[in-house]
Amino acid sequence: MSGKKDVLHVGIDLGTSRSAICASNGERHVVESWVGWPVDMVARKVVKKPVVFGHEALENRPMLDLHRPLERGLIKEGSPKAEAAVRELLAHLIEKAGGAGKTVQAVVGVPAEAMRVSRQHLRNAVKGVADALLLVSEPFAVAYGMDALLHTMIIDIGAGTSDFCVMNGRYPTDDDQRTLTHAGDTVDEQLGLQIRARHPDANFSIHMVREWKERNSFVGEPKEPVFVEAPVRGKPTRLEVTAEMRKACESLVGPLAETMLDLLSRVDPEYQQRVRNNVVLAGGGSQIPGLAAALERALEEVGGGRVRSVEDPVFAGASGSLAIAADAPEGDWERLAG
Ligand SMILES: Nc1ncnc2c1ncn2[C@@H]1O[C@H](COP(=O)(O)OP(=O)(O)OP(=O)(O)O)[C@@H](O)[C@H]1O
Ligand SMILES: [Mg+2]
Repeated sequence: MSGKKDVLHVGIDLGTSRSAICASNGERHVVESWVGWPVDMVARKVVKKPVVFGHEALENRPMLDLHRPLERGLIKEGSPKAEAAVRELLAHLIEKAGGAGKTVQAVVGVPAEAMRVSRQHLRNAVKGVADALLLVSEPFAVAYGMDALLHTMIIDIGAGTSDFCVMNGRYPTDDDQRTLTHAGDTVDEQLGLQIRARHPDANFSIHMVREWKERNSFVGEPKEPVFVEAPVRGKPTRLEVTAEMRKACESLVGPLAETMLDLLSRVDPEYQQRVRNNVVLAGGGSQIPGLAAALERALEEVGGGRVRSVEDPVFAGASGSLAIAADAPEGDWERLAG
């Protein structure tokens, strides 16, 4: 390795919907995980860039070959562009964080399932973008950042997956982790179906549904009715969607509670109570009002417990990954040639 002053540590949370970076120079950035290449010469002239990211890519989608490279927590199968899109996204984040010309050592947090299945794809994607790599599961990164390494359960509710991890004071093994494909994207699908059933003439896209959810999500009794606006036969119309919102968000509670209780039952009986009192929700889904309370109700069946949400769901994973980068000994890093 070259002299220490040239090394930049970065922690990256590579997500299905959003990706974030925290760097040892204090830089922090987040971008929606959209990568688009202009489709032809005309499009290149209009967008004036070889590749476009995030919200800008989504807005310019008619002109772009647009990719969200992760799906259900994995690098998309059978999509030759997906690996390239991951590489572009990582390069973009590292450049924004001031990595140009530095020796970049990156800890990348990914859904636990991607660690198992897409490891080689991820390694290829990082090659040429960073000099050394450490892949970790997202919930482990969150736990590390909170210094919650012992008798804690992290539930990271993302877009593509909900990732569970029980911390036993050491690197988690496969037995300590679970991945569910019930997460933000499934709530969006449910909500879209429900609203279409009630308001068949309304015209809306899945992107609009996601925005409605992010502004109005809840579990339990509604505090106030939920209204959204969408065109009906071309005319902007206010639609009441309270019951639909509740049902779509509550579709997460059963599967999350079931997996939480199952993982708990596998914890050494001596420590179960401590873990029950240390359940932490992370990821965008942790912002759903009433969700933590609903999971606490599920814990009542087994003696009660406490569920809280991380303070900063956008950067909890990336800053945890950065903390791992700062502490990781030489031998834990994978060196990437070229
Ligand atoms: N206030 C909110 N209420 C409900 N859901 C929300 C809210 N804010 C964000 N989300 C949802 O959280 C999800 C994004 O969370 P996050 O950024 O943690 O996911 P990700 O890391 O990109 O995905 P994954 O971890 O599955 O790869 C999206 O489905 C988004 O719609
Ligand atoms: Mg995530």
